[in-house]
Amino acid sequence: MTTTPASSDAGGLFVERTHLPFVVGAFVIALLGGFSLALALPIDALIKGVSLSWVEHAQVHGHLQAVGFAGFFIVGVSYRISPRFTASPLAHPRLVAPSFYLLGAGVLARFVGQPVANLEPFGALMAASGWLELAGVACFALITLTTISSARLRGDPTALLFSAGAVWFLVAALLNAVWLTELWLDDRTILAGDRGAAILLPLFFGVHLSFIFGVALRTFPVFFAATRSSLRPQQAAIALAQLGLLLATVAAVVDVAAGPRPWLLEASGLTLVGIALIWLTLFTGWWRSPIRLRPGSQPFALTLQLAMVWCVVAAALLIGASISAVGDGRAVEFATFDAVRHVIGLGVVTTAIVGMAQLILPEFAGERLRRPPGAWRGTGLALALAAATALRASARLFEDQLSFEAFHWLMSIAGTLALAVIVILAYYFWRALRGMRDIIQFTEERVRNVAPGRRAPPIDPRS
Ligand code: HEM
Repeated sequence: MTTTPASSDAGGLFVERTHLPFVVGAFVIALLGGFSLALALPIDALIKGVSLSWVEHAQVHGHLQAVGFAGFFIVGVSYRISPRFTASPLAHPRLVAPSFYLLGAGVLARFVGQPVANLEPFGALMAASGWLELAGVACFALITLTTISSARLRGDPTALLFSAGAVWFLVAALLNAVWLTELWLDDRTILAGDRGAAILLPLFFGVHLSFIFGVALRTFPVFFAATRSSLRPQQAAIALAQLGLLLATVAAVVDVAAGPRPWLLEASGLTLVGIALIWLTLFTGWWRSPIRLRPGSQPFALTLQLAMVWCVVAAALLIGASISAVGDGRAVEFATFDAVRHVIGLGVVTTAIVGMAQLILPEFAGERLRRPPGAWRGTGLALALAAATALRASARLFEDQLSFEAFHWLMSIAGTLALAVIVILAYYFWRALRGMRDIIQFTEERVRNVAPGRRAPPIDPRS
């Protein structure tokens, strides 16, 4: 096993910056793909109605958001924080760059290939996208599982959740690669609904939520000055989530492979996942005041608190829909899945990314040192995302009571709000990145100008 630091810069001020290409990639995909399509889809439906091409683009949007935006961010941040959580260097650092290029090429090939997959070579490109992503995810899983292996053996909840997340990422990527290849061989461009659902279950509940809770269980009790709960109950909640997700994923795969949909198995799995999610939020202390955060960082705590609120809402929707489906002797409806996916995708994942990025990325930490951000940024971005989540999910849940136009208008407003948040965050990230370069240059010059054996003069704060 190779265990040398992944990267270093000459300034020595911010040693590991492995996360940077992934975070920049996540912003680029979100701005040019995922969130732009989120806005374009409802507007296109209002102008032209829903067509085959609309459904292809909806699937591309979902994939860019789940694997491109959220996936890239998760991979980059976990490369940064796994070594810190476990006090051991990042394992297999030579696989970091391949994981970036393979995942990036896979997401790009899907973006370009799927909408025109009926023309060659785009069908082949769409199929190749799945295998490229699988190879990228395999590199990521190997790095993560090895880096955190000792913490996992100790039963550390964060390490257990990161490990589960890496394994579920492999499962989702494998299903995606196999079914995209079948799609290409059948000369079709749209994944059947049951296949899409079977890929998205492990992605949302296995990958996104595992990594978010992995970070939350470790950091939130510190931010919110909550008493850390003992290991056993946290491990039990994690095990319950894995059991529930396993049952629901098996039900979804059986539905694709053999049918009919084993709805009782699916509902039992989703109910267990819902209970486990509510249980996990109880270990974080999110309802307390963020007194341990510096005053300049406290407004960002609202994003973390709202992410937990939305997680409870998604869990309650899952439990309620599963119980009512069992009562009626049927499977959980598409509308519930779509609403829950967006409560999680926007309310939990995007909101947590917006908050955690500003709290834990070194670029934003450097910005806080130079010029503390206005309180509006934490509160404003959190509330805008909450409004977008409420509009996106309620449009779907109350679709029957809405006209076609009202339904898509609500989605367009939600899309505009969400895109605006990402544009603002990307701008501040870019500004923080430029500021960081100045700091590194300044430090390098200071070090260069000091004579051997002498100490550098004290820094003039005005510089
Ligand atoms: C306000 C922002 C958003 C809007 C307006 C929006 C809109 C849409 C629309 C119109 C669809 C198609 C639904 C259908 O098939 O009828 C969709 C599907 C989807 N969206 Fe979003 N979305 C948003 C944000 C997000 C985010 C942040 C994520 C994940 C992080 C996400 C993930 C998905 C997924 C996975 C699908 C399913 C794609 C498939 O069928 O394979 N969306 N979204």
